[in-house]
Amino acid sequence: MATDLYARDVAAIGTLQKLRFFPQTAVGGAGCYLRDSNGAALLDLSASWGAASLGYSHPAIVEAVSRAVRDQAGASVLSGTNAAIVELAERLLRITPGEGARKVWFGHSGSDANETVYRAVVRATGRRRIIAFSGAYHGGTTGSMMISGHPSQAHAERSSDLVLLPYPCRYHDTVTAESVLEIFDHMIATSVPPHEIAAIFIEPIQSDGGLIVPPEGFLAALVRRCRAHGILIVSDEVKIGLARTGKLHGFAHEGFTPDIAVFGKGLGGGLPISAIVGPADVLDAGTAFAMQTLHGNPVCAAAALAVLDTIEREDLAERSASQGADLMAALRGLSEKHPIIGDIRGRGLAIGVELVDDRNKKTPATRAAARLLYRCHELGLVAYYVGGNANVIEFTPPLTFGPAEIAEATAILDQALSDLAAGRLDTIDMRDFVGW
Ligand SMILES: Cc1ncc(COP(=O)(O)O)c(C=O)c1O
Repeated sequence: MATDLYARDVAAIGTLQKLRFFPQTAVGGAGCYLRDSNGAALLDLSASWGAASLGYSHPAIVEAVSRAVRDQAGASVLSGTNAAIVELAERLLRITPGEGARKVWFGHSGSDANETVYRAVVRATGRRRIIAFSGAYHGGTTGSMMISGHPSQAHAERSSDLVLLPYPCRYHDTVTAESVLEIFDHMIATSVPPHEIAAIFIEPIQSDGGLIVPPEGFLAALVRRCRAHGILIVSDEVKIGLARTGKLHGFAHEGFTPDIAVFGKGLGGGLPISAIVGPADVLDAGTAFAMQTLHGNPVCAAAALAVLDTIEREDLAERSASQGADLMAALRGLSEKHPIIGDIRGRGLAIGVELVDDRNKKTPATRAAARLLYRCHELGLVAYYVGGNANVIEFTPPLTFGPAEIAEATAILDQALSDLAAGRLDTIDMRDFVGW
């Protein structure tokens, strides 16, 4: 049956939107588990790339969404409003720190939100340039790819007004915080007049670029420099925001408050909704300027309100911090036994495990990463890899992840790592699973 469903997918759905690591299927799910078409339970350490922030079929979301569709208050915010979307806007304004008059914009995804930020800051400031980081993934639409630096998008056209800075990494200390700040200073003094720069896009942890936690003080120093030139600070919280890192906001670890915060993925708990919180003069810079028919959908807004309620009621930020520390400790235990684990890093329940063929040289174990995750899936665990060398396993499990799941995940990873070391995974045919 599994083969049937996966084979039907291969036959009927094109590859353009696929990023496949193994033949994963789902016919249902509950909590941290998906149920595949063989009836097997899959412990999901990705949470569908962080979107299923409360896991699957969380009662609060089931309740809120069921109520919203039973008495549906329209489908959009474009030409009329609804109570859920207004309440959500007010709520986001309350929980997101910031100064001055601020407003909210709603979209479906991190991609449309970042694209809208890009277009709106250029319009509102009259400045055309954007700074972002090499390795940054801000989305998969034309506009969001124009301001991204992820190597998987080599096919896409970057904006000629985009300046990419390296993102410093403590593990790969070839790029230090000091060197990036020097590049910034040099650039501002020479080739890129700061009065032409509208905004800088920052990920407080660079996720798809390799789950890279920046060196302490780096982002605060960079933000200070940008502020001195009136450059707007955008924090892309799409993957790691809303309680995942052990605090409600990723930027809260970094000693800065952005002008603009972008939320997506986990905001909807598995339903499509994204949001920008930012200065009113940016988000009021035009009408009919950045809209799609279903933006402001009341059913998705109800899901988001349920997510925010649950995060607050169950103190999921605190839970992320403590469960993340326990998961990290269990992974460190594995690293004593398995030399392929070169680095373990992250905050809360945003954790990266970098695999290397040689701990001294830090050579990326790209081939091994793909096979390891294939084997994990066979054993009942779902996780994907990120990073420019496709060798960083990313864990972004549901925020409800607990001790039993940590024990199960550790046992499966241990088994898969042992299989890898013993050469038992060498014959897996990975041709259909090229990842990214
Ligand atoms: C930091 C960040 N921003 C934006 C996006 C784009 O979000 P979406 O794929 O929901 O459009 C992603 C997706 O991985 C992301 O990780």
